[in-house]
Amino acid sequence: MANSIAIIGAQFGDEGKGKIIDFLAENADVVARFNGGNNAGHTINVNGKTVILHLIPSGILHKGKINIIGNGVVVDPAVLMEEIEELKGKGIKVTPDNLIVSENAHAILEKHIREDKEKNMHIGTTSRGIGPAYTDKVARAGLKLIDYANQSNNSKLKPFLKNTALLINNLIDKGKKVLFEGAQGTLLDIDHGTYPYVTSSNTIAGGICTGLGISPKKIKTILGVAKAYTTRVGNGAMPTELKDDTGKIIQQKGKEFGATTGRARRVGWFDALMCKYAVMVNGLDALVITKLDILSEIENIKICVGYKHNGKIIREFSNNIEILQKCEPIYEELPGWKENLNDANDFNLFPQNAKNYIKRIEELLNIPVCIVSVGAERSQTIILRKEFLF
Ligand code: IMP
Repeated sequence: MANSIAIIGAQFGDEGKGKIIDFLAENADVVARFNGGNNAGHTINVNGKTVILHLIPSGILHKGKINIIGNGVVVDPAVLMEEIEELKGKGIKVTPDNLIVSENAHAILEKHIREDKEKNMHIGTTSRGIGPAYTDKVARAGLKLIDYANQSNNSKLKPFLKNTALLINNLIDKGKKVLFEGAQGTLLDIDHGTYPYVTSSNTIAGGICTGLGISPKKIKTILGVAKAYTTRVGNGAMPTELKDDTGKIIQQKGKEFGATTGRARRVGWFDALMCKYAVMVNGLDALVITKLDILSEIENIKICVGYKHNGKIIREFSNNIEILQKCEPIYEELPGWKENLNDANDFNLFPQNAKNYIKRIEELLNIPVCIVSVGAERSQTIILRKEFLF
């Protein structure tokens, strides 16, 4: 059994990480965020009620968990305070005992949001000021939350601020079970994604160490979350994008509209090259496949197993934009299944073609699938391999 688990997006974000973190948080002691800011939107359904969290770790919905926002996160103080109030309004406890924010995290200021809207439209950012805030941090011109709180006399924020590196190392050393909550996905990573159409943080597992101040040796299990197909919000290459009716059907059925901006997500087939790259740069131990239920009733399901570029066949992912934009995906076709999977609770009883689809992904990526998700509810989560979980 793992004592620390990282949840990382294996695609372009929106893979359903929030739901999986919420599911695993039940057995965790600590949930910690290490990157991004309120560009994230984690939608969680509990007992028919929808909660969307942008900044606060999903563990807040469970009693008795410690939630940490690490130094690698950029925090819009106004959004943080609003989210705290909103959760409290829903009867959820949020105090400095169960939410601790790094005093070293940098503040997103109004000027950052203005600049994002003015300068980054071509990227299709979430306009939350994320890029400009990180830019100021790296340029050594940023404002840490502790300084923001002091300068603005923000007495509401101050009690939540601490040195979270000390705290989390302490908790890990005491044997507490920690979940590292990734935001966005591998292909949006500033270094390893489809630059410049990326976010401004390290979304990959390496970001956990810098974004929280812990050693790589302290991360035990790394799980990648991938949808059974691909989606992308914002601009940038997406080789398997579907512009036909099948794409529209998946978009509608999968409710592929952004949790943060409401923008329609671009939809495409599962890209095994891309996910295999995510397996490599993150060192994924196992995969969680979400939204498998959305593919029911599609006659033939495709998986991208190569790219054809300038007459050459490429079998390994490249984040070279020129290749990604111009390549033609090479597909393998698998027969689909008609059955609705929403009530399925035993993988052994899945339609054979749905099982084959998962098995083929395991073969292509060369890692096991440990969880399959077939709906938004906690109960619609099927465990295939317990050894990767708490
Ligand atoms: P930014 O993070 O707002 O700077 O946006 C940069 C790119 O990342 C844009 O293409 C956004 O749509 C995308 N992005 C940022 N956060 C998320 C997310 O949580 N899910 C999916 N895409 C995101």
